[in-house]
Amino acid sequence: MKNKHPKFHFSEKKAWINDPNGCIYHNGEYHLFYQLNPYDTKWGPMHWGHAVTKDFVNWEYKPIALTPDKKYEQTDGCFSGSAILKDNKINLLYTATRNFGDDYDQTQCLAIESGDGFEKFDGNPLIKRPVENVSRDFRDPKVLFHDGAYYMVVGSSTLGARENGDGLVLLYKSDDLESWEYKGILFKSNGQYGTMFECPDLINVDGKWVLIFSPMFYGDNKSTYIIGECDFEHCVFTPEYSSEIDFGTDYYAPQSFSGAEKPIIIAWQNGWEWMPWYEGFGCADVFSGSMSLVRELSIKDNKLVSKPVSSYDKFFKKTKELKVDGEIEGTSVSKIVSDDITSGTELQLKFGDEKIVISFKSNEVLFDRSGLKEYYSNIKSGSYNLKEKNNLELYIDENSIELFINDGEFSMSNLIFPNDELTSITSNTSINLSLYEFDGGMK
Ligand code: FRU
Repeated sequence: MKNKHPKFHFSEKKAWINDPNGCIYHNGEYHLFYQLNPYDTKWGPMHWGHAVTKDFVNWEYKPIALTPDKKYEQTDGCFSGSAILKDNKINLLYTATRNFGDDYDQTQCLAIESGDGFEKFDGNPLIKRPVENVSRDFRDPKVLFHDGAYYMVVGSSTLGARENGDGLVLLYKSDDLESWEYKGILFKSNGQYGTMFECPDLINVDGKWVLIFSPMFYGDNKSTYIIGECDFEHCVFTPEYSSEIDFGTDYYAPQSFSGAEKPIIIAWQNGWEWMPWYEGFGCADVFSGSMSLVRELSIKDNKLVSKPVSSYDKFFKKTKELKVDGEIEGTSVSKIVSDDITSGTELQLKFGDEKIVISFKSNEVLFDRSGLKEYYSNIKSGSYNLKEKNNLELYIDENSIELFINDGEFSMSNLIFPNDELTSITSNTSINLSLYEFDGGMK
């Protein structure tokens, strides 16, 4: 079984990681915090790992930022949250989860940068759940600064994620990050978008508000966005258009970077056991979990577009340009680009006697992993109206494949665990391909 550390995606050397947390740009560096169990390759008591980068490829690991050492966060730990700058210090807002065996309590807490680490605020927990119509699922605060005040969105549910509730996004307001006013329910699923909204975010993209969340039990969807208008004062979000950020199986809990010049997001490349396609977390002998590529967001024709940030470009060296009309063999490649994808094109990537097949239809893209022997045997599809000719970018990094069409109008992230390296590429239509090798970065 092949489980190798990715070359240009973030991962931990030995540990379990899930959601990106506390994403922030500060003093010329991007900080990434993340859900971490440092003692195992399985989910466990949640810590916050911490790493910094200038280019999203070369990362410097920092000491663990949050350890679940307070009574109010035992024994499940410090769940997801976000970061914001105040008085030139990084402030972390996170969910403390107390577990009582058959029940749990989630509260929102604060930790402030102090010397080399982060100190938990004496007045924690800051926010207890508003009891009326809000279940114990009450987590993942994301803070933003808007119109002279701090606002926080928190994910929740009316009856509960597994009690068939309605997903909720709650809104809070503060002047100092310490005392918070509950503004109310900003957005409710109303039977449409799933039973609980994990990891909400509210991002200004090209002058519009984009509400994103990771919905539980919303069919085939797992990274939903809604473009709309947001009235913070009256706590009303008016939706205009909704869809998925990514149509693959492994793209969850995306979060935007506070303080970045442009709206950019990063997500966890995996999924949970309650998702319809779940067949395990993949091979986790040494480590488990990686982050997606960082993507820049924009709005085009009132839809959200997400494409890898341009700082990755310098790390990919073009090694070949070739015409493919059938099978080409012996290919070591990290990125494949073509401008010739048409409705009917089918690409096969072979890994010894295993394969994946990507099919482009006039109004959908299918990613078929049934030719792999272990972990994943499903076909995931996403709807997209292909143009006459389409640009494709495929990033292949050990156990993951991220696919982008037409500069991020459509994307799919999927994990793969074949035993062999890539051995050949086949196309059933005649296409020109450019092949790139990754050149640099994490060792
Ligand atoms: C999302 C999530 C969050 C929670 C965290 C726990 O993947 O379930 O809602 O805070 O993971 O690790």
